[in-house]
Amino acid sequence: MSAIDDVKSRIDIVDLIGESVALKRAGRNFRALCPFHTERTPSFHVSPERQTWHCFGACGTGGDVFSFLMKRQQIEFGEALRILADRAGVTLDDQRDPKEDERRQRLLSANETAAAFFHNALLHAEAGAEARAYLAERGLDKPTIEAFQVGYSLDSWDALRNHLTERGFTPDEQLAAGLLVESDRGGYDRFRNRLMFPIRDARGRVAGFGGRVLASASDDPAKSAGAKYINTPQSPIFDKSGLLYGLDRATDAIRKEKTVVVVEGYMDAIAAHQHGMANCVASMGTALTERQIRTLERFRSKILLAMDADAAGIEATLRALQEAGAAGAIHASSATVHPEALGEDEFSNRTREWSRNALKRAAVNFFVIPLSGKDPDEMIRADREGWDAAVAAAKPFTDHIFETVANRSDLSQPNGRSQLMQELLPVVRLIDEPVFRAHYVQRLARLAQVEEEAVRGELRRKPARTARRDATDDPAARQPLRREPAEEFCLALLLRHPELRLEGSDLSPELFLLSEHRAILSAWTETPEIEPLRQALPTPLHEQLDRILARDLPVLEGAQLRAAFHDCVRRIEVRRLSAAKRASAAALTDPDVQQYMSAAVEQAVALQGAGTPEDTSSIEDGGRTAELAASLIEDTEMGRRLHQIPTEPQPAETAQRSEGER
Ligand code: UTP
Ligand code: MN
Repeated sequence: MSAIDDVKSRIDIVDLIGESVALKRAGRNFRALCPFHTERTPSFHVSPERQTWHCFGACGTGGDVFSFLMKRQQIEFGEALRILADRAGVTLDDQRDPKEDERRQRLLSANETAAAFFHNALLHAEAGAEARAYLAERGLDKPTIEAFQVGYSLDSWDALRNHLTERGFTPDEQLAAGLLVESDRGGYDRFRNRLMFPIRDARGRVAGFGGRVLASASDDPAKSAGAKYINTPQSPIFDKSGLLYGLDRATDAIRKEKTVVVVEGYMDAIAAHQHGMANCVASMGTALTERQIRTLERFRSKILLAMDADAAGIEATLRALQEAGAAGAIHASSATVHPEALGEDEFSNRTREWSRNALKRAAVNFFVIPLSGKDPDEMIRADREGWDAAVAAAKPFTDHIFETVANRSDLSQPNGRSQLMQELLPVVRLIDEPVFRAHYVQRLARLAQVEEEAVRGELRRKPARTARRDATDDPAARQPLRREPAEEFCLALLLRHPELRLEGSDLSPELFLLSEHRAILSAWTETPEIEPLRQALPTPLHEQLDRILARDLPVLEGAQLRAAFHDCVRRIEVRRLSAAKRASAAALTDPDVQQYMSAAVEQAVALQGAGTPEDTSSIEDGGRTAELAASLIEDTEMGRRLHQIPTEPQPAETAQRSEGER
């Protein structure tokens, strides 16, 4: 999730605006006198569902949390973002200074150098013979070893240290990269006599390493020095919870096959790649984290989990669902399969949390490959058919949970069935999609031996609400994120087609609902070239810019391109106006407002008839009534215009409309 999305999801617009504006509930929305202009009827509306505000009065504008703050405090997007990020407890990349960037580069480059050093030792050093033999035994061929740059760390306290020092890396840098362990004498090599797996980020940079003992550790744990795997400790460049091993090499295949297979171990991922399944990544031994899930979801591919239930976090998830009654936070405690896998101290106490939304998506989009206790690595090498069959037999995540729970329940006893019901209800509750829900309601009814209606009755009962937590910590309290696909499309057209420069320059940033889009459009108006434009934008916006640039666009040129552009602009306009219309319609049904309106309109008309605006100063309130009346007329005028606008997009476009539209 981008920093901007993170901020948005943690700030509730009603809380934010409510701090400075007296909001009054009006049905599903809140209303108030508009803080941006003087008025007597409340035309300022806030929608908690949409996380937007709108003034259908004289302002005729609206937006999101950022634009509210920008307008209120007369500040730029970047500053509003900083204030809100601070409030939400989100760290912005932007806050990194260039010095720090430079340092990161140095650490990454130390890692890159170390990876080459380890790799070279594996391929050529005499001392690497045992490691080479071990890899041969594990069935890794040379091209694979090279592709993954597998290496060997010599059995020495200072081989790497000397090498890196010769290359100009300071002891401090080597320590910070996690390559050395601190000691009185300035540090010694962390990785000794181990097989080395460079762990790369999605862009292919070596963020850290996993180092495996040579012998199979399980044979004789006492013989092996320390844990089976040692990993680079958590650092600014290495956060294991955000990385997926092999992703840099898997991206194309995932896109092409529209499927990604997630395994646990380095060896599993490597074996898959060697055997032609390049759409495979490894979670590296911990329960899948929210960040890893989000990374995977970006591919919009089917996600197949080939990991034992505990490693995938499914069991933990299930426990958390029950504890939270599915209403409060979902804190899946870290599945402590390998405490060491979590790295040193920082990791150990962390909880892995899947937000409720991630769980919801997992319930319908994730599949579980039945492993029956074997390692994917073993299966792929020894029983390829068995592996293929297992992949083909992957079951929906929800089915897997159903089966897991059913298998461990004693369904012959009412007690067992009742227990099962309590365990699975929160799972069914996650599923919104009616067809899927009906399916699982039916299944649950059968398993528990009750009528379906009984299950539905239970589902309707509100789960016990856990104490309301701090919104910033409680994933369930997070705001749903709104994307505005039409806005993205419009910007993508502008960014990719310089020939739209003229048309585009006429657009007002206020056309867009999302502040990040407004900021990008404003910057584009100044500097249309992509790179200078990127430079001009606050760093946290880069991700959104890249997202937009990466959008698939139909091939368009000439008149067609212009038509598509205008069409898209119109669609956004209509959408914006219908939001305004919704807000004004809501206000117009309010009896207070109606009563006030008719009185005020009469008064205004009388005043206007009385002469020029200058004359009105003679009225005892010093022209204030006149001002109000004028703004009211403007408001009403505006409202009328709004209600005449066609508010439905053309049928062909409806498919493109964003979710949550109504
Ligand atoms: P496995 O024990 O399944 O290891 O742990 P593996 O990768 O399959 O290795 P082989 O087949 O025994 O050689 C799965 C993953 O968990 C992490 C590593 O990322 C490993 O690949 N792990 C495991 C650790 O980080 N530390 C450990 O001590 C053990
Ligand atoms: Mn293994």
